[in-house]
Amino acid sequence: MRVIAIANQKGGCGKTTTAINLAASLAFKNYKVLLIDLDPQSHASFSLGLRTEQLEGSIYNVLSNVDTKRRKLSEVILQLWENFNLAPGHILLSTIEQELRSEEDAISAVHRAIDSLSTDHDFIIIDCPPSLGFLTFNALRASHLLIVPLQCCSLSLMGVGRIINTVELIQLKLQRAPKVKGLITMYDRRTRYGKNTIQEINTYFKDDIFNTIIRVNVTLRETAAHGVPAIRFDKSSRGAMDYMLLADEIIVESRKLFLDDFYEETEHFITEIRDKLKVQAFSFLAPEAKDVYVVGDFNHWTPNESGRLERMPDGRWEKRIALKHGVYKYKFIVGGVWICDPNNIKTVPTEFGVDSLLEI
Ligand SMILES: Nc1ncnc2c1ncn2[C@@H]1O[C@H](COP(=O)(O)OP(=O)(O)O)[C@@H](O)[C@H]1O
Ligand SMILES: [Mg+2]
Repeated sequence: MRVIAIANQKGGCGKTTTAINLAASLAFKNYKVLLIDLDPQSHASFSLGLRTEQLEGSIYNVLSNVDTKRRKLSEVILQLWENFNLAPGHILLSTIEQELRSEEDAISAVHRAIDSLSTDHDFIIIDCPPSLGFLTFNALRASHLLIVPLQCCSLSLMGVGRIINTVELIQLKLQRAPKVKGLITMYDRRTRYGKNTIQEINTYFKDDIFNTIIRVNVTLRETAAHGVPAIRFDKSSRGAMDYMLLADEIIVESRKLFLDDFYEETEHFITEIRDKLKVQAFSFLAPEAKDVYVVGDFNHWTPNESGRLERMPDGRWEKRIALKHGVYKYKFIVGGVWICDPNNIKTVPTEFGVDSLLEI
């Protein structure tokens, strides 16, 4: 499951249009999608034909800490089409910060709600309000990827730095933050974009910008009034096609994120093991011996393959064993005779004599 937040504190840059149409395109491609409308203005829910004030429950009830209002996320989810689920928004979302004021870790409320879902979704898409407040912070904290829609004119880029700073703040606080990618929206090729706009985008996003560019398209504007995403209204419209291309990029991106996680986890695992273990080399000079074993606390004092030394051409016998930090007693068995390690002056008396002592 991948959680994707769509945020930019600027209103009218294409957040809700992107949330709805990306969700619909992924669902069309057979991925199971949940769209969470986290905006008190609930434009996504309205654009999908719902009247939120008439609904039994919304994402507000999921986040609320008032017992009589509280609902599980799975209880407020509505299935709109095949693979396309919606957790509707509500005007009361604007009061939720106040409501959760005294809650510990209120910033993780959305994250916890998503975590509690037992039904699996391939993608969860969160449509954020046009501000960098509590709700957007909650969405970013819950997400793997943040898409920042950029209406392609210089003025609309003002303030984009702030959302990137917010993500950096989350990284500092939680040691984990969503990957950020810019998405150019409402592109009109007849408009001449200044060098500054392109330069600004490059400064903020470098290569982290989607190749897909969402063009200006009347279908995208009109479908909101019909309560359906572009792909369900006119598949051949530019809007439907652009968002299908974006969905393809998202699918590739989510695989990359999966690989990044995998590498990070593997690296973490290897470092942990490396920190815990030390490779100890055991060596014994016995050119005439038939076999040499090392036995000790680390292999239950049993002469088997794990302690069998290998003969070197110069008559030395060698074995490397990875051991955890600790103190170990051990001995060599050379041609059947038990002997202390002649290269180790540390010994410890036992009821049978002495053992060599190794500290790691
Ligand atoms: N690619 C597009 N072409 C034409 N109109 C668009 C496009 N994207 C969004 N719009 C329209 O622009 C307005 C603002 O878009 P919206 O997605 O609601 O932005 P936000 O959620 O960021 O406030 C809406 O009326 C929407 O229908
Ligand atoms: Mg919106």
